[in-house]
Amino acid sequence: MDFDLWIQALHVLAIISWMAGMLYLPRLFVYHTEAGAGTPQAETFKVMERRLLKAIMTPAMIVSWIAGLWLAYSSFGFQGGWLHGKILAVVLLSGFHGYLAASVKKFAADANTRTSRHWRIMNEVPTVLLVIIVVLVIVKPF
Ligand code: HEM
Repeated sequence: MDFDLWIQALHVLAIISWMAGMLYLPRLFVYHTEAGAGTPQAETFKVMERRLLKAIMTPAMIVSWIAGLWLAYSSFGFQGGWLHGKILAVVLLSGFHGYLAASVKKFAADANTRTSRHWRIMNEVPTVLLVIIVVLVIVKPF
């Protein structure tokens, strides 16, 4: 039984869960902004956003990092331009996760000042980073 293959499977499952949340949460912010603060819909969105972040995204991010760092150490000794580029892209993705987490708090306090257009544009950030990360890890161009 190749331990690293099980870790790689866990890694891919975790990143799928993390990315599902990273692509869905900004979309919830679009609808939440359009619903308007204080509406029954806005109260429902608050519950959905908090649960998505706390029950799925944050645990999945932590498992992605732990499994990813293990693979980077055991399979590649942290060597390879593609791996360094990938880790930089994942640090940016984690920073964006932090921005979304802070925004969940703002929405919960009815203190969001951003427009729905802003959140539509923000929705593209994890998509662009996902493409960069997957090309780096599969193609290993440098
Ligand atoms: C958190 C920091 C991360 C590190 C250090 C890391 C590192 C690694 C390493 C070393 C591998 C094995 C590559 C191989 O055996 O060829 C791997 C596999 C993979 N990683 Fe990550 N990863 C991280 C996060 C992510 C994220 C956030 C994504 C996607 C959004 C991702 C997507 C993938 C995919 C799709 C594979 C499977 C590649 C294959 O089976 O050929 N990783 N990762």
